[in-house]
Amino acid sequence: MNNFNTDVHTMIKSADGSYTAYSKEYDEHYHSTKDGALNESLYKHVYPAFKIKKDVKELNILDICFGLGFNTLATIYYLKQISSTCRVSIYSPELDKDLINSLKDFNFPKEFEDLKHIIFSLIENKKYCDESLHVELFLGDAREYVRKFSNFFDVVYQDAFSPSTNPILWTKEYFSDIKKASKDDAVITTYSTSLPTRLALYENGYNLYINSGEDFRSATVASLVKLDEFELVNMKHKISCNPDTKSLRD
Ligand SMILES: C[S@@+](CC[C@H](N)C(=O)[O-])C[C@H]1O[C@@H](n2cnc3c(N)ncnc32)[C@H](O)[C@@H]1O
Repeated sequence: MNNFNTDVHTMIKSADGSYTAYSKEYDEHYHSTKDGALNESLYKHVYPAFKIKKDVKELNILDICFGLGFNTLATIYYLKQISSTCRVSIYSPELDKDLINSLKDFNFPKEFEDLKHIIFSLIENKKYCDESLHVELFLGDAREYVRKFSNFFDVVYQDAFSPSTNPILWTKEYFSDIKKASKDDAVITTYSTSLPTRLALYENGYNLYINSGEDFRSATVASLVKLDEFELVNMKHKISCNPDTKSLRD
């Protein structure tokens, strides 16, 4: 019996061999078990973000929400892999303080082996700092947290539980707050390809792009500025084919 497992969370192996968790409260896994937890973080968030934000010297990332910390840790893993000299700051809200405390017992992938001191510092101090990296964990509501920032983020990893399970983190008003917190050339990455999610972004002025590849199910990239790296979603066509579909609202 692993100490991570409780009445509310159980650890489960995903397709790439990395472990994720199942939340009984939300009746949902923290990652796609089919894509794999580590794969999902890398292919749906880290790689597309850094494909666009390459050759930058500084980057502020908003990681919505910390959960098991895969997106934050996969970012740090990737930066080390490419011997990046970019100074990266990651800000991540998370409502579930018990989950954060239980991460000391989570079976993280071997790729995160060298990051144990960072995981430990985040659990103990809710932050980690060194010469090239700054990570802050905020224990509280993401909606409230996002409103503290203005014109600040370069990248947003939008990785809340699904729109049907946790709609408050997918509404038009929520993405309006994300837009205010972000720079004009910020990029948003998300696993959601649903039309209501894309509409909530589109109604805030975002261009929507398809992030697809052989190693994962398709995902979405959103940006206020035009991107050459990804295929544009024809939103006018999608809307005309689905006239009754609406974005989620607060
Ligand atoms: C899909 S999981 C995040 C997975 C995470 N990115 C990872 O790599 O492990 C969603 C997380 O959102 C948290 N959450 C739900 N509502 C929240 C809110 N309003 N503010 C902050 N965190 C929230 C849940 O506790 C859960 O840990």
